[in-house]
Amino acid sequence: MGYNIAIDGPAGAGKSTIAKLVAKKKGYIYVDTGAMYRGLAIHFLKKGISADDVAAIEAACDDADVTIGYENGMQQVYLNGENITALLRNEDVGTMASRTSGIPKVRATLMDLQQTMARTKDVVMDGRDIGTVVLPNADVKVYLTASVECRAKRRYLELQEKGVECNLEEIAKDIEERDYRDMHRETSPLRQAEDAVLVDSSDMTIEEVADAIIELCK
Ligand code: DC
Repeated sequence: MGYNIAIDGPAGAGKSTIAKLVAKKKGYIYVDTGAMYRGLAIHFLKKGISADDVAAIEAACDDADVTIGYENGMQQVYLNGENITALLRNEDVGTMASRTSGIPKVRATLMDLQQTMARTKDVVMDGRDIGTVVLPNADVKVYLTASVECRAKRRYLELQEKGVECNLEEIAKDIEERDYRDMHRETSPLRQAEDAVLVDSSDMTIEEVADAIIELCK
């Protein structure tokens, strides 16, 4: 069994940035489970399936092979053998992932892969249900959050840096909607595990958050 650090929290809380840094500092592998849901979402989008058509989504899971690999330490996501990493962060992909990740078949399709990785390697895994469902026996569990305003501002700056035109209010609205969907779905809703440590990153630097998590590993 590897050493497992589980980080859950809402969209834009900084999970991937923090998890990547903690993994680097500890020499562990970073597993971004949101990227796996996004990988499946690309499959559904490519097939032109509506997020409301649950039967079609379930059927499409059977011909999607989502795998992950690493290039220079960076996680790559493959869909049926094709490297789709560059497409993962698109807004339509995030929305499709959020709208389909409540479907039990979608979750079951990815959970095996996540658990196998954690069994065999030391990992920092981030997502929505890692501490509650995927790795209930993780060595360290963190629930990482930040205010909606703060998360929207971070996303806004990130998009602006990439030269993407965006609107702060729309981003905040999208984050609120995504929070609601992630927290209120029937299957594996986003919630803090009873034994998870709550970290609010609103007024913390990236280094401070990473160090606080590493401190929990002692
Ligand atoms: O963390 P992210 O924005 O890349 O995740 C995309 C969507 O995938 C998110 O809206 C919820 C879903 N997700 C999930 O249901 N369970 C996970 N472990 C990770 C992500």
